[in-house]
Amino acid sequence: MSAAEQKTHAAAAALEYVSSGMTVGLGSGSTAEVFIRQLGELVRGGLEIVGVPTSEQTARVAEESGITLRQIDHVDRIHVTVDGADEVDGRFQLVKGGGGCLLREKIIAHASDLMVVVIDETKLKGQLGEFPLPVEVDPFAFTITAKKIFDALRASGIAHGDVKLRRRGDGLEPFVTDGGHYILDCACTSIPDAAALSDRLLHIPGVVEHGLFIGLARVIIVGEDHGARVME
Ligand code: 5RP
Repeated sequence: MSAAEQKTHAAAAALEYVSSGMTVGLGSGSTAEVFIRQLGELVRGGLEIVGVPTSEQTARVAEESGITLRQIDHVDRIHVTVDGADEVDGRFQLVKGGGGCLLREKIIAHASDLMVVVIDETKLKGQLGEFPLPVEVDPFAFTITAKKIFDALRASGIAHGDVKLRRRGDGLEPFVTDGGHYILDCACTSIPDAAALSDRLLHIPGVVEHGLFIGLARVIIVGEDHGARVME
């Protein structure tokens, strides 16, 4: 069975965490999009929720799905956020940002009562780091920031640690996030201590945020061929 079907199963299981009256953080990426479209069907059937999007792309999908949206500054509380991930380890630590939305995703996850992560089986890892770690940086002096990130990776025991500016599909221009920042993708191979690396990265002035989500996810839903496994 395909990853697409596993994503559908994971998204369907995540709907259990949503009920009328809730404000729901809406993640970004293909798995979150499947969830948003399924949520839209429930909204058309009478479910009353308000969505808070984590990206401009997600806002478009949610609007198409008939979900009422609010900006994060206009809600008192976010009851639950459902989002995807690029990698998840056994301690519920995540790598996110493959779609370049990690800053808003992290702000919204951090502001939520509960973060539910929806993934297919390929995203479960013994250790994080196979997926290049996205780091969102200010465009100003990004080459200096890249060198500092390289040093932080080395100090964290990541010898490989190539740091590459993400480019748009045409390969010419840098990819620019919704917040106007660049993304540096760091080839780590493995991240032995995600918390230590997080601290080092956040001490670099040009780093806006990074894709390690530590202590945020409380529920992981893994889509499988015949259903979904919920880990709490
Ligand atoms: C976007 C993200 C996504 O949640 C992550 O990249 C997973 O995406 P997908 O569900 O398409 O594999 O962090 O910034």
